[in-house]
Amino acid sequence: MLSKSMETALNRQVNREMYSAYLYLAMSAYFETASMKGFAKWMRIQAKEEQTHAMKIYDYIIARGGKVTLDAIEAPKAKWASAGKVFEEVFSHEQKVTAMINNLVDLAIKEKDHATFEMLQWFVKEQVEEEEHASEIVSQIAILGDVVGHLFWLDHQLGKRE
Ligand code: FEO
Repeated sequence: MLSKSMETALNRQVNREMYSAYLYLAMSAYFETASMKGFAKWMRIQAKEEQTHAMKIYDYIIARGGKVTLDAIEAPKAKWASAGKVFEEVFSHEQKVTAMINNLVDLAIKEKDHATFEMLQWFVKEQVEEEEHASEIVSQIAILGDVVGHLFWLDHQLGKRE
């Protein structure tokens, strides 16, 4: 059985993962309007992944006899100055998500909630990858030059994501 404080914290994380999905979908739409189809595809797949993150926690709350409470999802912004700015935001957003996951782990340790601690280890590992991928793309854009005309190769590469 989950404690009330853990149930509240996990429900909050469901909301933040859904917000991440929404944010990345907004970024995908931004790239669609810029005719950067590969970037748009990468972001759309990323948005889907975030939904699976939310559902992992959602299912876990239910499995532990908790109550799922769904809050309103904050509206993401719709415009960015460049592809580089988008990925800088992805990187800083993922760093914030990592901090949220770490706070949940701290709570699980404080409450001696071993099952939640164990479930969260998947997210701890996932965040290493999430930050790594975002920061790699930030570096690639910086090398190529943060203007659309220089990013066709990267657009093609990112479009290969399945
Ligand atoms: Fe669900 Fe990108 O962290």
